[in-house]
Amino acid sequence: MSTMEQARPADVAPDAADLGAAVEEQMAKIVTELGAALGVLLTSLGTRSGLWAALAGAGPLTTAEVAAKVSVEPSLVREWLRAQAAGGYLDYDPVTGTFTLPDAVAAAICYGPGGALVDAAATMFSSMGEGFPAFSEAFSSGQGFGWHQRTAAHWHGTDAFTRVALPDDLIAAVIGAMGDVAAVLTAGGSVADVGCGYGAPTMAIAGLFPAARVLGIDYHDASIAHSRAEAARRGAGNVRFEVAAASGLPGQDYDLITFFDSLHDIGDPLGALRRARQALGPDGAVLLVEPLGADDVQDNLNPNGRMFYAISTLACTPKHSLGSSTDAAGLATRLWYHAGFVGAPAFEAMIR
Ligand SMILES: C[S@@+](CC[C@H](N)C(=O)[O-])C[C@H]1O[C@@H](n2cnc3c(N)ncnc32)[C@H](O)[C@@H]1O
Repeated sequence: MSTMEQARPADVAPDAADLGAAVEEQMAKIVTELGAALGVLLTSLGTRSGLWAALAGAGPLTTAEVAAKVSVEPSLVREWLRAQAAGGYLDYDPVTGTFTLPDAVAAAICYGPGGALVDAAATMFSSMGEGFPAFSEAFSSGQGFGWHQRTAAHWHGTDAFTRVALPDDLIAAVIGAMGDVAAVLTAGGSVADVGCGYGAPTMAIAGLFPAARVLGIDYHDASIAHSRAEAARRGAGNVRFEVAAASGLPGQDYDLITFFDSLHDIGDPLGALRRARQALGPDGAVLLVEPLGADDVQDNLNPNGRMFYAISTLACTPKHSLGSSTDAAGLATRLWYHAGFVGAPAFEAMIR
């Protein structure tokens, strides 16, 4: 169906008067959605401007007291504080007119990964907003919308998200749990990271195993250019980056082939896994890191699944026709089997 032939709602609308309170409830939900969507940007502003840091551990503060700790204009501080109190992130005392950041919120946003994850998402969402006219056209008409059609903020935001979600010590722990792989890479060995993007995990592996040769590939040339520049800036001598599609992974006899949050983004994931299997050395291993969605739709109908389905609709699935990436665990298991890894243990590290 072209955009000129949009489906229309049925002529006879349900009688809103009959539905009464249920319609009111849905309208209230829509207001909640609008506030939550804007809340991503507000929370990110709090991280970037130091507002969260000003509140953390400080106890009850008036608007003027918070404003004195940051360079943000006081009337904006006031509005921001009120928005965060309305969103449940701050406690407000109407008697003293003070705002308090509860310890649990501070732990999640300031000391835990929450603030950095939301900030990375805000960067990604800004690209989605900028590219929305073109994206919605492609969405409605059934055309694909590839990684290369995004703006740079999408790639930067993804990289920032990866750096928080997949810290070097987690990557070290996961590889350390993969039998002899860490020992082989410590002594030398070779690694290919497929769909490497800006290459944060690729460079983490190169840093963890200085004697190993590490290759990152991605079909997206701008991401590869960025990765090369970052590797040069770090002086990383054992890592290189090449523009290549996953199904055409160059090289042979790898000791480890990794897919960090990329298999579900690849248009031909079966071709990518088949090529990985061919390119492995005799004792080589494949590491798949995928978002932790449940296999069955009904088990994903919760806030986690909602986020995954949304990202899948807006960012992952538009590149290919394979369908949802949210059942990545089940999909990966099926693909794993069809790619010929029959009987081989699949080591899955899922991102929560
Ligand atoms: C969600 S990003 C993950 C990037 C990186 N692994 C990380 O963790 O930050 C998915 C990546 O897969 C890449 N990609 C998509 N299709 C590909 C293909 N057919 N061959 C190689 N890379 C591909 C995209 O260009 C993008 O960089």
